[in-house]
Amino acid sequence: MRSYLFVPGNDEGKIVKAFDTGADAIVLDLEDSVAPQDRNKARSVVRDALEARTSEMRKSGPKAFVRVNPLGDGEAFRDLDSVMPGRPDGIVLPKCRDGENAKKLSEMLVAKESELAITTGTVKLIAIATETARSVFGLGSYGGSTPRLLGLGWGAEDLSADMGALANRDEAGQFLPPYQLVRNLCLIAAHAARVEAIDTVHIDFKDEAGLKRECDAALRDGFTAKMAIHPAQIAIINEAFTPFKSDVEQSKALVEAFANAGNPGVLGIDGKMYDRPHLMRAEKIVLRAETYGMKDDPPPPRKKRAPAKPRAKRATKKK
Ligand code: COA
Ligand code: MG
Repeated sequence: MRSYLFVPGNDEGKIVKAFDTGADAIVLDLEDSVAPQDRNKARSVVRDALEARTSEMRKSGPKAFVRVNPLGDGEAFRDLDSVMPGRPDGIVLPKCRDGENAKKLSEMLVAKESELAITTGTVKLIAIATETARSVFGLGSYGGSTPRLLGLGWGAEDLSADMGALANRDEAGQFLPPYQLVRNLCLIAAHAARVEAIDTVHIDFKDEAGLKRECDAALRDGFTAKMAIHPAQIAIINEAFTPFKSDVEQSKALVEAFANAGNPGVLGIDGKMYDRPHLMRAEKIVLRAETYGMKDDPPPPRKKRAPAKPRAKRATKKK
């Protein structure tokens, strides 16, 4: 997945639109974008939307996730009770404290799957893993927590509220140091757990340049996807997380070279060393291109013009 579009669970109009935005996944929200008094309505709207998907939509449309409420007060249980008959592709668990929390939600899903005759583990799980100060210290515990864990995402809005901070971005829109820290920790935690690393939302949905900058930085650092809140963000995110043609071609050549050499631990090609991490990266890029295609390479950087030579002064004829 490259893009996850959030949509408030009680907004039928937006939900219909969300399916048509080109997002790889939509996240029908039952948590922060829904006022508590609208939660019951949202539960039934979300269930209806899930059930209204045709088999064609289920196969080739965007994946449909539901963001439930955090564990602790029974609301998540009530959410699952309402929406699971709609067979969502996955659940997003906000304010997830640690791997134990993810495992607990997974056990709730096992029970629901069995009740509804769904194969165990079909419904995937994404944990939003940095929304409270305490959860930051649980980041190292997700590996092996549950096989249905698909990804870890991070959030700055709830974390700044939890810490009583005045802001999470500076005047130029860049994340302040505490949020850069949790971004980086979440990225590393996701890779340590061998799941997708999902970058947080860019809430300034009119700022296309800022979103593009964040996507490029996310891709550079190893995130594989980004969350969105507005349809206008989807094309930018999808484009950013689609691999470059030259990268795909080089990756294919590397995978082939390893296969032809009988899959050794290390290979030397054109004077450069390639070992297992290079192979793993190449395999991921090839897989991504098979799902999402590839994009043209960026134009080569323009050569800088040599500074003009100072012209010799013409001798002025004496009159
Ligand atoms: N999904 C689907 N459609 C959406 C959408 C979304 N997340 N956000 C906006 N749209 C639709 C609007 O309904 C509108 O449709 P219309 O032209 O047919 O009226 C169109 O896109 C343009 O929307 P716009 O007027 O620019 O924004 P808005 O003021 O209607 O909505 C937000 C702004 C922020 C309220 C809205 O984008 C939103 O609800 N985002 C998701 C919030 C959320 O889920 N947050 C929780 C996770 S952080
Ligand atoms: Mg929140």
